[in-house]
Amino acid sequence: MRLDKYLSESTELSRANGKKCLHRGEVTCDGIVVKNSAFKVPEGCDVRLLGEPIKVRGLRYIMLNKPEGTLCSNVDEVYPSVLSLLDIPKAYSLHIAGRLDADTTGLVLITDDGQWSHRQASPVKACGKRYRVLLADPLAEAQIPDIIEQFASGIALRNEKSLTRPALLEVMTPSEVLLTITEGKYHQVKRMFAALGNRVVGLHREQVGVIALDSSLRPGEWRYLTRDEVLSV
Ligand code: URA
Repeated sequence: MRLDKYLSESTELSRANGKKCLHRGEVTCDGIVVKNSAFKVPEGCDVRLLGEPIKVRGLRYIMLNKPEGTLCSNVDEVYPSVLSLLDIPKAYSLHIAGRLDADTTGLVLITDDGQWSHRQASPVKACGKRYRVLLADPLAEAQIPDIIEQFASGIALRNEKSLTRPALLEVMTPSEVLLTITEGKYHQVKRMFAALGNRVVGLHREQVGVIALDSSLRPGEWRYLTRDEVLSV
């Protein structure tokens, strides 16, 4: 890796500010001052900034319990970004894998591993996302088998040419259901229920693939994924 990239990936410095440190002679590689930003850092090299050792961090994989009124976006807009809840370096350069609406709560996965993120979002991998859904209109007992069947065989969403992929609907109570889908169209869960003449009044993501939201995380809290959770995607 180039030395300027190494500096920006292992510290809070931007690439430009890292270069300034280099030009001021503040960086050493195995004890020798290096000013060339294109210098290729060899494996195992002892890189120091102002005498302090610095190491490139590995890829990061995070689960966060998204509170209501936050955005799955890399910028703060009307609401703050979920990334503002991460008290770690360069949080805003991380990627949010599978976005939730501002009023949706629950499991959000965040990483700087683009391929991992792509895999979990891909419909081809059919990674199920399970939502707990509160409905405005309670389901009538007699309708339930038919509604389950409609979700299983695909629903025609407004402005979409193809039906939704098969989804699993589990009815907890007449106004609370669990819905597992394997794709992530814009406002998909809300639009699926809207297509059936109902309205979602509460939406919480509980699980993505085998990664379940950790019940010890309160809204706004996060933790790194375990190795098994990372490898499950
Ligand atoms: N479907 C929605 O409608 N909203 C979300 O936030 C996630 C899935």
